[in-house]
Formats: sequence, structure tokens, C-alpha cells
Amino acid sequence: MTERPATTTQTGTPVASDAHSLTTGQDGVTALHDRYLVEKLAQFNRERVPERVVHAKGGGAFGTFEVTEDVSRYTRAAVFQPGATTETLQRFSSVAGEMGSPDTWRDVRGFSVKFYTSEGNYDIVGNNTPVFFIRDGIKFPDFIHSQKRLPGSGLRDADMQWDFWTLSPESAHQVTYLMGDRGLPTSWREMPGYGSHTYQWINAEGERFWVKYHFKSLRGNSEMTGSAAEAIAGADADHYRRDLYEAIAEGDFPAWDLYVQVMPYEDAKTYRFNPFDLTKVWPHADYPLIKVGTHTLNRNPENFFAEIEQAAFSPANLVPGIDASPDKMLMARIFSYPDAQRYRVGTNYNQLPVNAPKAAVHNYSQDGSQRHHFNPSTAPVYAPNSFGGPAADPALAGEGGWETDGELVRAAATLRSDDSDFGQAGTLYRDVYDDAAKARFLETVTGAVGGVTSLEIRERAIWYWTQVDADLGARLRANLEAPGESADAAAEYVGVAD
Ligand code: HEM
Repeated sequence: MTERPATTTQTGTPVASDAHSLTTGQDGVTALHDRYLVEKLAQFNRERVPERVVHAKGGGAFGTFEVTEDVSRYTRAAVFQPGATTETLQRFSSVAGEMGSPDTWRDVRGFSVKFYTSEGNYDIVGNNTPVFFIRDGIKFPDFIHSQKRLPGSGLRDADMQWDFWTLSPESAHQVTYLMGDRGLPTSWREMPGYGSHTYQWINAEGERFWVKYHFKSLRGNSEMTGSAAEAIAGADADHYRRDLYEAIAEGDFPAWDLYVQVMPYEDAKTYRFNPFDLTKVWPHADYPLIKVGTHTLNRNPENFFAEIEQAAFSPANLVPGIDASPDKMLMARIFSYPDAQRYRVGTNYNQLPVNAPKAAVHNYSQDGSQRHHFNPSTAPVYAPNSFGGPAADPALAGEGGWETDGELVRAAATLRSDDSDFGQAGTLYRDVYDDAAKARFLETVTGAVGGVTSLEIRERAIWYWTQVDADLGARLRANLEAPGESADAAAEYVGVAD
């Protein structure tokens, strides 16, 4: 028999039994001073931290990002310099489902990458779609409430989902992705990723550019039908998580090429639609894809909780040579994520091994719950100081920035000639979906809208899709008004809008 270590308490003291509580006689009552029993039960009660308020169900792995091209004329970021290799962590997720929800419910999928760069951590926290449902962060909690559960019954509800979407027509482009094949990938390994927002890149000369990120799977994209997804949801709720784990364990490493679209700084002022609007894509004809490098996942977590559940990805994690843009959603997210993580994981979440940067940390923050690292007792605890403590260096920070007119207002961004809620959604449906994809799309939308009980919201949903494409709207009306309606299609539909 292999030699085993003796069981101890959390403070390292050997305990007397793994199986028997301390009792007054064999059949007597349990003694409260059985400190190991008390510690064991108390520790168990604290095993869970709150699940992520969105993107609760997911999985992930570690990897490597390798720069294969030269994009140094656009950014000085060390992570994107020619030949650079950087360790990474990636997490995939569903948006609306809770921690135990089936992976294959129809949804947008999260696509988060943490680069442990020599200049600090850089996170791209994106999705498998290039756009989003809304364009102002003030709507995000309402949007998520409408997609999650009714307060009374605890059930999902098609009425509130379609009520929100149709009263927020800027959602049309993303809902066209969601109800299309992109809503049901075959696996996380076979889907694309996008940073979605416009970010800023700054080169060594201080020149600024606007960029959008695209990750393309080397396996290509693959999607499943609604009925296949429903069958898998019943048979194996962890289908995507298992697929990723097993592929990596077998040495079949998933990989994506990273590309950027680059818009010269000045172009943004006169481009035909607002290039910072998260509900829009930039046509590749205007801004073609430029390859940067390859991201490969090659190592499974050793401990799912410590390394995936406690992982904290944030759009606030930017590095020198990369900055935010005037996208109102991005600015709201930069506040929201670290706030969520201080609550969900704890004040000092960035000191946990999975979140700690490989770069050195020097600042004056101290104390707080679960503090692990601290400065030497001789280090000054304030700035400015005369004793050699850290001092900020703007030249090292490599920040960008942009001009504004300085007025504080509450208003939508200025409309440009090609700004519209429905235009790009119509293009996606008409020009990107082939006939078979269009037929699947109509069936899915029929099923989803078929679940709406309010006639007013149903009528608004038909209006919404008519704005996307008149023929689509007419077909949807015909389907919904057909005898027997969309019972089969509704049965096919699972997930976000069921
Ligand atoms: C203003 C709008 C948004 C707000 C306020 C918001 C807020 C949040 C919060 C609080 C979390 C949980 C963070 C945690 O506990 O670790 C989260 C997770 C996430 N969000 Fe957002 N979100 C917004 C928009 C977006 C957009 C536009 C995208 C994609 C382009 C996105 C992608 C993700 C992903 C992928 C995760 C999971 C990160 C992980 O894997 O740990 N979110 N979001």
C-alpha cells in the first residue's frame, strides 16, 4: 500500500478520525468541541462563490499566443511585437444560462482571452459574434433581466425577451446572429471569436489607430441543428466543456489565427456610420483583415475552481499601446468587470495565481480581505514620497485618448448617413445566409416568436423582422398565422428565447 499523509485540520494538526464524530458514548450526542467536524462542515458551506452574473456556465484552458506577422507599425504593445510568445488563459461561456445550464441551449458564446504579457495582463473579453444587442451600458442590466427568469415563477419568458428586443431595435443585428446558425456552434473549438468593440492601438511614435479583433478557428466554423442541440442538452449538459477538455487531454490542441481590422485615426471622424457603435461591423472591403498571430490552447486546468471559476477577465485590463475607444458600452464594461470580481471573488482577486500578472506589481494599495502579497515593511505607503517608492511614468503607460467637445449630455451618438438599426441585420440575412440557412433562421424565429403570448409584442416582433427584411417579415406572419402555427418549430427551439 502506498504511504499516505495523515489527515490534518486546516492549521496542520493531525486529526483522530475521517469517519467518526466525537460523541458521548457510541450512541450519544455529538460534541461541539469536535473542532475537525466543525471546521469540515463550515469549510464545506463556503465552497461556492457567487456565479458570474452573466456567462456563468463555461470552461477554459491555458495556451500560448505567438505573433507570426509584423504589426509594430500599428501598436507598441509588447504582446503583439514580431516573434513575441505569450502565455494565455482562455474561457468560453454561454451568456444567459446559470452555472449548471446545458451548454447547447441557443445563445451567444463568450470568448475571453487573458494574455500574461511582460507589460501586465491584457484581456480580450469578447463573444463569438462581432456585434452586441445594445449600444449603451445603461441598458445592460435591463437586457439581461429580460433574458433570464421571471421573478415569480423563476421561468424564462418569451414575452419579456421579445418585448425588450423589439423595444430596443438596435438589437436586430445581434438577434439575427443569435437566431441563425451562430447561436448553436458544434463546439467551442469550431467557432470564431471577436473583440466586438473598437479598441485603440498606439505605435511607438504615438500614432493612433482604431482596431477590431477577429479570431478564426483553424478548424473552421461548424454549427448544429436545433434538434441535435436539444438532444445533446438532455444527454450531456457539459457537451462543450467535455469536448474542449478531452481534445486538449488527447493532444488535439484547438487554435485560432488572430486578425485585426485597422482604421486610421482620422477616418473615424468622417466614416459613413459611427465606427464605435457595437451593433455594427466594419465591412472587410473598407478595412481588410490583417493577420497578427496564432493562439493555441495546450494545457487543461489542474483545478477547475481555482483556475477557471476564479479567473477574472476584464476589458479594463489594457496594456501600453492598447487603449479604449469612445464606445459607450466599452466604457461601462471597464467599470463593471473589476467591480463584479471584487464582489464575486474578493477584494484581492488579482493576487490569486490565475489572475496574477507575470509582470511585477508596484503600487500603494494595501490590506483588504484575503491579502496575500505585501510590500516590505520599509517601503513607503503613500505617494508622493522621498523614499524611493514607485512613481508613475506616462511614457511607459502608452495611453491613447481622443478629442471630445466637452459637453456633458445624455443622448444617443450623433447619427451619420449610414447609421441604422436594421441595415446590417438585413445584409446578414439576405447576403450572408444561403437559402438553407435562411430556412433554418425562419424556423427558429417562428418557434421563438411563437412562444410569445402578448398579441401586441407578437405584432411588434413581426414589424421588427419586417424592418430587417420585408420578405422575412411576411413569411414570419404567414407562419405565425398558419393553422397549427409553429408547434414543431417551437419544440425545436431551445435556450435564450424559449
Ligand atoms: C455594458 C455592457 C456589459 C456589462 C455591464 C457586462 C458585465 C459583465 C459582468 C459583470 C460579467 C461577469 C464578470 C465576472 O464576474 O467575472 C461579464 C462577463 C462576461 N461578459 Fe460582459 N458585460 C457587458 C457587455 C459585454 C459584451 C459587449 C461582451 C462581448 C463583446 C461581453 C462578454 C462577456 C464575457 C465573454 C464574459 C465572461 C468572462 C469570463 O469568461 O469570465 N459582455 N459581463
